[in-house]
Amino acid sequence: MKKLLLSFLLGCSVFVINAQSQSKNVKMDRFIDDLMGKMTIEEKIGQLNLPGSGDIVTGQAKSSDIAGKIKRGQVGGLFNIKGVEKIKDVQRVAVEESRLGIPLIFGMDVIHGYETVFPIPLGLSCTWNMAAIEQSARIAAIEASADGICWTFSPMVDIARDPRWGRISEGNGEDPYLGGQIAKAMVRGYQGTNDKTFTANDQIMACVKHYALYGAGEAGRDYNTVDMSRQRMYNEYFYPYQAAVEAGVGSVMASFNEVDGVPATGNRWLMTEVLRNQWGFNGFVVTDFTGIAEMTDHGIGDLQTVSARALNAGIDMDMVAEGFLNTIKKSYDEGKITKAEIDLACRRILEAKYKLGLFSDPYKYCDIERAKTDIYKPEHREIARKTAGESFVLLKNQNNLLPLDKKGTIAVVGPLGNTKENMPGTWSVAADFNKATTVVDGLKAVAGNRADIVYAKGSNLTADPVLEDRATMFDRSLKRDGRTEEELRNEALRIAGNADVIVATLGESSEYSGESSSRSEIGIPDVQQRLLQELLKTGKPVVLVLFTGRPLTLTWESENVPAILNVWFGGTEGAYAIGDVLFGDVNPSGKLTTTFPQNVGQIPLYYNHKNTGRPLAEGKWFEKFRSNYLDVSNDPVYPFGYGLSYTQFDYSDVKLSAATMDTAGKLTASVTVTNNGKMDGKEVVQLYIRDVAGSVTRPVKELKGFEKIFLKAGESRTVTFTITPELLKFYNYDLKYVFEPGDFDIMIGGNSHDVKSARFMLK
Ligand code: NOJ
Repeated sequence: MKKLLLSFLLGCSVFVINAQSQSKNVKMDRFIDDLMGKMTIEEKIGQLNLPGSGDIVTGQAKSSDIAGKIKRGQVGGLFNIKGVEKIKDVQRVAVEESRLGIPLIFGMDVIHGYETVFPIPLGLSCTWNMAAIEQSARIAAIEASADGICWTFSPMVDIARDPRWGRISEGNGEDPYLGGQIAKAMVRGYQGTNDKTFTANDQIMACVKHYALYGAGEAGRDYNTVDMSRQRMYNEYFYPYQAAVEAGVGSVMASFNEVDGVPATGNRWLMTEVLRNQWGFNGFVVTDFTGIAEMTDHGIGDLQTVSARALNAGIDMDMVAEGFLNTIKKSYDEGKITKAEIDLACRRILEAKYKLGLFSDPYKYCDIERAKTDIYKPEHREIARKTAGESFVLLKNQNNLLPLDKKGTIAVVGPLGNTKENMPGTWSVAADFNKATTVVDGLKAVAGNRADIVYAKGSNLTADPVLEDRATMFDRSLKRDGRTEEELRNEALRIAGNADVIVATLGESSEYSGESSSRSEIGIPDVQQRLLQELLKTGKPVVLVLFTGRPLTLTWESENVPAILNVWFGGTEGAYAIGDVLFGDVNPSGKLTTTFPQNVGQIPLYYNHKNTGRPLAEGKWFEKFRSNYLDVSNDPVYPFGYGLSYTQFDYSDVKLSAATMDTAGKLTASVTVTNNGKMDGKEVVQLYIRDVAGSVTRPVKELKGFEKIFLKAGESRTVTFTITPELLKFYNYDLKYVFEPGDFDIMIGGNSHDVKSARFMLK
């Protein structure tokens, strides 16, 4: 009762946060007032249109269908055009041949690097290194802006607890706190930290997506229905989007899914009440690809109805559907849309262009010289290589099989060992596949002439050619081998038979995950599993170098393969980084940001779950009438936060500075971490908190802090976290953001499962 009363008194309403409100830009307002005063209603609607730009090639901008629209003032921006010359050409049409000469905004899916490709976002998140993540976004911005791009459709921050969903690869895993820190780092990286007006021509506008809850589609099927309580939205899914807003993100992309029975694209509560009124967002909102038209299939009306609904909800720009372009004027004439609504959306688009500096120089991002010098630079590649090495997660290393010596014969076996196309990973629109390096060449480069690296494909990606086709789209063919499974395997066994060590390069191809790549079974594909079993039978040491864009069910592998290094998709420099880690030049330090389940039936399986009224007792895996399964334990194969090192880190007990804290106070929680192994290394020290009894049920633990430290062999360091009441807040039953007095458990460790704990009381 006391708790409830206090939570009421301390309750800070969700309606008062206004992270982005900033002093008015009078000059900008005046400029836009003036410009809008000259615009016809059709030209205003034109600014809201972001068509597909498929038909534009250099020199043809003038004759394409899009060009006609640009000249008529019917286009606000274009996206996914690569090449500064091309972009400059199109911009010239807008500036010189449309009535008012309003410049276009050029967007692209620059998701994890431009031509210097960094690890896929899920991999990047496993670095737990915010400086490295920010730097990856900075480099992406430098390269993209050198090639004409001023707007990126990133960061993608959708919380995902279902590894069947292919787009789990594009996000930061399952934790809202970590996801929020990464969202902020990426926004800072893209937009730059020195100002809010994009002064330099390498600062580009970020677009946080997919707002909201896109990662919670039923059954892990892409674009599927989402239904969740507002409690869960606010406590478990919203924070990363909000964090991006707090960091000043310039734009937001609406998600495809419905929220509370209304597609996000037409959901006024989401787009206006939460995003703008509660969080204070003041940039513009773009739909996802054809998001407006898809509302007809969702079943809420024809194109005119859903377009009006989107505008009314707070959407400013229509990607591809042309629902705004073709129906908003009609709705306006019929009195279904007001001039004020059209003006507001138009103003937001013009503001973005103004902030980017496009009105003072429409060619600000079209510096042909920069395109020659700033893209795929050696310095960028060097950083990408380091970052990739830090994203790999060592899942198992029995008897210290790794690192390998740079000597003898090493057999690389598997369909992913000798392909360039596969290395950049999903959503690498600007990548030049020829510039990527295969694993074989990466190992050769790192081992030099001290070891002999040989290769056999060993198997195709999967037995089913149709599935293989689907999983190797967008020019990423793995060049399916026409030989039988047995022929391929025999060749591999012969080559492996003469080797000292086998490096099995297996798992998913890059398009096995990503958009529209959901899977109902998430193991290593059939033929590859059988190949792995045969390789193990040789008795040679086998290291599994696992490529994947999602957690896989590695139950058998975790028991039978001596060493497993999960390399996700490391980007253009990924192969060198694999060499660095396999040969011990780099000590792995990645930690999982998503739980690896034992089987698909356990999904969704995530570390920050609720306890239920019938939890299973610690150490047991089945008890009748408890919350569990008959046929599998509740445990994951690898928990959130998990990852090994070539050295060993030991944790002391947790020391609290006090056993109680008052609601205006703070305390500290410390552990001493010691590197008890023989190698220097990095460790991610993780802080989890549990609210033992709340006015509503609370998770068994939640990540609330982390620090990545470097310790030399033999070195110890005390890591101290400051605990404040702010850290203990959550959204209560009435969606008030409160902390509640009572007991709290502090847990600190190197993963979410193995923690040391101590309890304090908030008075
Ligand atoms: C659809 C995807 O959902 C989104 O992430 C992407 O930014 C757009 N297409 C544009 O390519």
